[in-house]
Amino acid sequence: MEDVDAAPTTLARARDAHGEVVLRCRPPGTYELVVNGVFAMDTVDVATEELLATLALDRVPARDRPGDGGRTVLVGGLGLGFTTRRVLADPRVTSVVVAELHGALVDWTRAGLVPPAAGLLDDPRVQVVVADVRDVVTGAPPGSVDAVLLDVDNGPDFLVHDGNDALYDAPFLRLAATRLRPGGVLAVWSASPSPRVRAALAQVLGSCDEVLHVVERQGRTFTYALYLAPAAPAAPAPAAPAAPPTPDA
Ligand SMILES: C[S@@+](CC[C@H](N)C(=O)[O-])C[C@H]1O[C@@H](n2cnc3c(N)ncnc32)[C@H](O)[C@@H]1O
Repeated sequence: MEDVDAAPTTLARARDAHGEVVLRCRPPGTYELVVNGVFAMDTVDVATEELLATLALDRVPARDRPGDGGRTVLVGGLGLGFTTRRVLADPRVTSVVVAELHGALVDWTRAGLVPPAAGLLDDPRVQVVVADVRDVVTGAPPGSVDAVLLDVDNGPDFLVHDGNDALYDAPFLRLAATRLRPGGVLAVWSASPSPRVRAALAQVLGSCDEVLHVVERQGRTFTYALYLAPAAPAAPAPAAPAAPPTPDA
């Protein structure tokens, strides 16, 4: 049970060019991340952070043919690692690139200072890039990933960095969509329903599912939202040429 009156303990604090990052713990065992002076997340209810990965990967079509390789996922925002851990729980996933703006959070995670993310970055399938997710998406080769999962703010209406606003509009989402393989999925987390994100994803990829999750905390009701938009599937393989007619015997 969350004890909202308990004073949080600061476990780690760092400042970089993008602002301050603070990791806190609130008894009896809730971890909180504050980024640039803005509450970014805590561990009271991480169902949607995990569902972001699960629902996206559920929508990615099977690749069973020889040579198709495993699944590749790009995650925007390490946070406390729940989305990335859930991605890695899928044995089909062979590569995960995590873009995280704040290097200190990556350092703390590697050093074991972030208990929810213990051991996460030891998985050889994970590559963490300390950079803006916008740059990591831009640098990814077109058609190279099966899912792009964006959870860098509390959604477009509650940003941790003002510069993230453009991540929720069609131009960036269109760029991200070009990085998807056929049948890949572009997914976005939001702390509240966002018609803006849903419309932008539908504009870019043709359709967008909204998944809502109601959370009760501190006597208030929150509705977290996930947006999932699939890219067009691969065109069916061309039919084998018809066998030439057999001459009559
Ligand atoms: C809400 S947390 C992510 C939570 C994560 N899904 C999880 O399961 O723990 C947001 C993270 O995104 C990072 N971030 C914010 N803006 C970013 C950006 N433009 N590029 C990359 N990371 C960013 C923050 O530092 C923070 O670690």
